[in-house]
Amino acid sequence: MTVGRAEVGLDANHQGQVPQDTAPVFTPDPVTLAHLELILNGAYPLTGFMTSEESASTIKHGRLPDGTAWPVPVTLPVPDELAGAERLVLADPEGAPLAELRVGQHWWSDHRDHEYGHRLAGEVRFARPPMYGVLRHLRLAPTEIRGQRDIGGFADRPLLAVLAERPLHHRSLHQIRAAAEEIGGDGRAEVLVLIDTPLDDEGLTPAILAAEPLLPPRTRFVVTTLPTSGRRDGHPLPAGRHDLLAAHVARAYGATHLLIDRAPGDPAATCEEHGHAPIPILPAAEWRYDTREELWRRADQVPDDRAETEPGDAEVEEMLALGRELPSWFTPARVATELHRLCPARTRRGLTVFLTGLSGSGKSTIARGVAEGVRRAGRTVTLLDGDVVRRLLSSGLTFSRADRDLNIRRIGYVAAEITRHGGVAVCAPIAPYAATRAQVRAMVEENGDFFLVHVATPLEVCEERDRKGLYAKARAGEIPEFTGISDPYEEPTDADLVVDTRDAAEGESVAEVLSALRAGGWLPDHHDHRNHPSHVEHHDHR
Ligand code: ADX
Repeated sequence: MTVGRAEVGLDANHQGQVPQDTAPVFTPDPVTLAHLELILNGAYPLTGFMTSEESASTIKHGRLPDGTAWPVPVTLPVPDELAGAERLVLADPEGAPLAELRVGQHWWSDHRDHEYGHRLAGEVRFARPPMYGVLRHLRLAPTEIRGQRDIGGFADRPLLAVLAERPLHHRSLHQIRAAAEEIGGDGRAEVLVLIDTPLDDEGLTPAILAAEPLLPPRTRFVVTTLPTSGRRDGHPLPAGRHDLLAAHVARAYGATHLLIDRAPGDPAATCEEHGHAPIPILPAAEWRYDTREELWRRADQVPDDRAETEPGDAEVEEMLALGRELPSWFTPARVATELHRLCPARTRRGLTVFLTGLSGSGKSTIARGVAEGVRRAGRTVTLLDGDVVRRLLSSGLTFSRADRDLNIRRIGYVAAEITRHGGVAVCAPIAPYAATRAQVRAMVEENGDFFLVHVATPLEVCEERDRKGLYAKARAGEIPEFTGISDPYEEPTDADLVVDTRDAAEGESVAEVLSALRAGGWLPDHHDHRNHPSHVEHHDHR
């Protein structure tokens, strides 16, 4: 819960004038926390959260009511129970106080961009330096960066800020070096890379930092969380407002120019709005890799038929997942090394293979075969079969909806742990409810991959086979709530693979699943085995 009422025992050094009595403690949502940090560290020229007039004016005109240019609303949404508060202690997600808010205005927002409509406006007062958030040592305040440049005697030199949300590949590095030279006049501009990453997720930051030796000397890196990281919805603001916000923040750090690094194919938003930026936002010059000259050049110097096509972010991710090397013309070796470390190949990533289907559909048999195949491919595997789980992990549970859900969540919990440790879990319960399967997927995907197989053998076939004689009993009314007969089975719409054992031997279904896992990169290719020939294979083929 984010709201509480607590004694605010502020640290002696920072007690300031913050009163010692009880005040409601509130942890804002991540977007608002990001705003708060930027208010407190001086990156924003604001002293607190906006009133309804201020917010409306920024949204509409990109200006505060007094005419100062400011691109985005900075408001504090609170739940109903805090709507009447006079003072509020704003805390980080661990409950540590960051600031005190003196409420100047309570208002209601009609923008349906937040779960709370209530807003509190007022000045915030610093309580304690933030400890929460990843990469804290790199989250320097604007005054610290400006101070460093003053001491170095570089305060008058142009400073190029680069907003980086993704690793800097060769193209971006060329763009940055060229821009630093262009704006540097007789010398070269200094560079400040602003790494934008959520408060609680370092993302690919280490790969961004890895490019340091490839950037101009004395390039500095600062990690920041712009309120837009990880949230692109929110206010229906004109395009380009987020770029303007980045320009305001960059200027606070002393930047004279801003370059926004964009993925290839991302239409560089050179919109009208950029004309209102407090420092120039440089249009990113287009660069292309010339396959004949084997170097990067300005796009206009490289004819189309000699230009290499750059992989997009999704393609890069897929290459990493498959364990393929990133081409050296595209990314510097040291950046690639970090990326491989941060995004290990799927053969080294944990996986849950989850088979769902009716009783008697062949799940258990296929699961056993799949588990065996995975083991042979050299990975550790745990088989969580429906009937076996029911005897151990879930003994005593019935087939009511609540108990089935609990059964599946237990399986999901164990599978997620196995996945987290890099293993492979193969699960084969009926798992009749889509919502519960989705919960398991979410649990597993926090730390690895999830592969859903629908064993879609039709009910008639399962009933016809009736290996355990259960369908006959269910029809006779001896087993109540029997899946497919007197209880629902929700067919998955999100299956990664559908197998039907109607006409296929179970061995074929096993092969189908294994080849899908191989194609997805979770199992090493047959091809890899051939590179390390085994005697057994040779004998088999004679
Ligand atoms: S689940 O719904 O909770 O996923 P689970 O896979 O663990 O079910 O158990 C299904 C197995 O329990 C079936 O293969 C069958 O052998 C047995 N079983 C006993 N009663 C039922 C029932 N009412 N519905 C379905 N399966 C049942």
